[in-house]
Amino acid sequence: MERSPAYYIETVGCQMNTLDTELLSSGLASAGYEQSADMRKADIILFVTCSVRAHAEDKIYSALGRLKNIKKHRPDTIIGVLGCMAQKEGEKIFRRAPHVDLVAGPGRLGHVTDWIGRIIAGEGPILDISKQRTNSKIDVLDSFEPFDPHRESDPHLDITPSEATVQTASAVPYQAMVRAMFGCDNFCSYCIVPSVRGPEQCRPWPRIVEEVRSLVDRGCVEVTLIGQTVNNYQSEAEGRTVRLPELLEMLDGISGLHRLKFVTSHPKYMSDSLIRAVADLPSCIPFFHVPAQSGSDRVLKQMNRKYTIAEYDEMLAKIYEWVPDAAVTSDFIVGFCGETDEDFEQTVELVRRARFKNSFIFKYSTREGTTAHTRFEDDVPYPVKQERNNRLLAVQNEISLADNLALKGRTVEILVEGPSKVTRRRMKHATDESPAKSDEIQLVGRTVHDRIVVFDGTPDLIGKILPVKIEHVEAFTLTGRFDPVASG
Ligand code: 5AD
Ligand code: SF4
Repeated sequence: MERSPAYYIETVGCQMNTLDTELLSSGLASAGYEQSADMRKADIILFVTCSVRAHAEDKIYSALGRLKNIKKHRPDTIIGVLGCMAQKEGEKIFRRAPHVDLVAGPGRLGHVTDWIGRIIAGEGPILDISKQRTNSKIDVLDSFEPFDPHRESDPHLDITPSEATVQTASAVPYQAMVRAMFGCDNFCSYCIVPSVRGPEQCRPWPRIVEEVRSLVDRGCVEVTLIGQTVNNYQSEAEGRTVRLPELLEMLDGISGLHRLKFVTSHPKYMSDSLIRAVADLPSCIPFFHVPAQSGSDRVLKQMNRKYTIAEYDEMLAKIYEWVPDAAVTSDFIVGFCGETDEDFEQTVELVRRARFKNSFIFKYSTREGTTAHTRFEDDVPYPVKQERNNRLLAVQNEISLADNLALKGRTVEILVEGPSKVTRRRMKHATDESPAKSDEIQLVGRTVHDRIVVFDGTPDLIGKILPVKIEHVEAFTLTGRFDPVASG
């Protein structure tokens, strides 16, 4: 019998892309394709792409360039570019990389399995992108189809610990991302997301509750609700209007769900009732990702963020008052159009006083199709962006390290996620198969505050919530020792 075609998916970008990859992969598996961990052995090579910064797109174009040879030697190989960059670049991808067979935007992912079948049947290349977004939401809405296959009934989403999970550390079955909403209507002036992911569309709350219940039934202990502005979630169904706090309350009632969190929050939608929900609901972990982007009101205005630093500070004060052990993380863009030294100093000040657990810092990258690209000059020289990036990072690292030092010698509870990066690298190069259940390997887990902890343990600990004593700390990683006696 001829073997089934094997697919390989390479993913960059945000958690939305990670979830899209998981869902695409389970769709392909349901259709009979085999997953391959090795690009060179795959018959179908797919890229799930990001457009937020130019660098992410450049990397995909280089990867496509390198695949020219594979295509020359094996012309039947199917190459697909999916997601945000596919939507933004469209036809241009075929012009720059004529060996690509499929270009499909994030609003068309539900068709990818069909398109691959057609390409195998000789009907390629295929371009499937949503309509270009105009001011009207209605005009384009039907072309941005929510990609939301029924996970609750998919046998391929294996939720039991398996050797395969240990080996590939792919979709961790104990943790699941669940989509709360698609798209974004905010149009921050620097951001391409509203154009490539389309209008905001919330999934009906009963679907989310049903999906989470089914995941928990199959052993999932941690759920992350995701959406570009997840704290603006609102769904009307079955005669009820449900916003994020009510949704969290419903999910909190599902027995067996130990950790519930949500990303990404927009500061302007951070309501009192949401902060209260995190404070009161036992399964909600004390974690908030609320990107500030800048510490300067002038820059925030230019970014079209629609809040002031005073309002952001007020929100933070409430979080720390009502959820005293909260870990708050933020994103920052440095070197945005017109950002002065003074503006930047205000960002540094914000990072210092907010004591973020972590900040993700990005150098501004102008994106065609955004208002900043049309209206403002990208006038901060690259070396200045780089220097501001390094400075802010150093300030944040100092804070992260000081916070982590306070944990030295203490025992923290972690959810064990899988083999650490070091173990995964070692396993990739090892000739023998996956480690036996009794072999000690380096594992990685996370605290409720999203701190990464590595420790030595056996693979059967994956998916468990355990106490680990912290012995060594760095700004981003804690190293600990699992004490089986302490865990009872
Ligand atoms: N340049 C640099 N960073 C950007 N982000 C979004 N758009 C851009 C851009 N054009 C950052 C923001 C956002 C994160 C996901 O990416 O900080 O929160
Ligand atoms: Fe982009 Fe702003 Fe929407 Fe976030 S809220 S996805 S930064 S437009």
